[in-house]
Amino acid sequence: MKALVLSGGAGTRLRPITHTSAKQLVPVANKPILFHVLETIAATGVIDVGMIVGETGPEIQEAVGDGSQFGLQVTYLRQSAPLGLAHAVLIARDYLGDDDVLMYLGDNFISGGITDAVEQFRKERPDAQLVLSRVPDPTAFGVAELDAAGRVVGLEEKPHHPKSDLALVGVYLFTPAVHQAVRAIRPSARGELEITDAVQWMLEAGLEIRSGELSGYWRDTGSVADMLEVNRMLLESQERRIDGSVDDTSEVIGRVSIASGATVRGSRIVGPAVIGSGTVVTDSYIGPSTSIAEDCCINDSELASSIVLRGASFESVRRVEGSLVGRNAQVTLAPRRPVAHRLVLGDHAKVHIQS
Ligand code: G1P
Repeated sequence: MKALVLSGGAGTRLRPITHTSAKQLVPVANKPILFHVLETIAATGVIDVGMIVGETGPEIQEAVGDGSQFGLQVTYLRQSAPLGLAHAVLIARDYLGDDDVLMYLGDNFISGGITDAVEQFRKERPDAQLVLSRVPDPTAFGVAELDAAGRVVGLEEKPHHPKSDLALVGVYLFTPAVHQAVRAIRPSARGELEITDAVQWMLEAGLEIRSGELSGYWRDTGSVADMLEVNRMLLESQERRIDGSVDDTSEVIGRVSIASGATVRGSRIVGPAVIGSGTVVTDSYIGPSTSIAEDCCINDSELASSIVLRGASFESVRRVEGSLVGRNAQVTLAPRRPVAHRLVLGDHAKVHIQS
């Protein structure tokens, strides 16, 4: 079996972060979402990974390399434009050969792994095996309809009138039968070759489609709210670990991870939270569900429920919550007069001002 990891896509809902960075590399709990994906794949015993990349390919290649840091062998496959998930299978035809396929969307976060689903597929080898999860708003996903016996009877991509609340999680298992299906379908209304349509084609062709409901937690991290939620959930399961330096006037409460090379002075850190190497926190409050990456400078500020990327700085700011702050961003207190906000915002930035 080979894995196919999809790491193209523009990440429009995460702009402006995705103007300069691949969405799959945005860190949650200080680790890129894509690294969580690769670790989950490595845990299934699959070694060969075809990484589908688009414009952000060089950045992804720089971060993942040959995959050996995960015990994987990664081959990069370039998708000329984001033409759909089934299109990615199409261009990976030669790479995949006659192997079974574990297809995994590089922005999907799943807790508890997928080893059981992969084991089941290996034993029973249906033509396609889907992973499903109940969601409050199925219209944002591929949706599966099951009959009374639990068999898949229909699939629709982002239906206006969903026939169930069972969304397709971005993890799919296929035999090589998938190749005929992705060649047979036509682009959807959004101009993409949908993997959902390919599986529907397989269903209509009488092939065997199985599904299983995911017991653990799943999020497609397409939006800032999803990112913050996954961050919170990951931090909640981390252990307390203080490797960095914390002075006597600081208080560190609960499951807080302070990396070696980080410095905390005169501050109160309430977990779960993580602080990366090279970061200096002085006279500040860091509240729960906050990840601060490497080489940040937080001075005389208050931050909670946020993700702060590498090299960002906060100076005399209170209070920031529910925020995603990009690399090397600077947030500082404005001079007292005139009473005004002064902004230098990237294209498509979103600012919510409290006044
Ligand atoms: C894609 C699939 C959809 C699936 C979702 C899971 O949606 O087309 O069927 O439910 O991933 O994350 P997209 O992220 O392309 O909107």
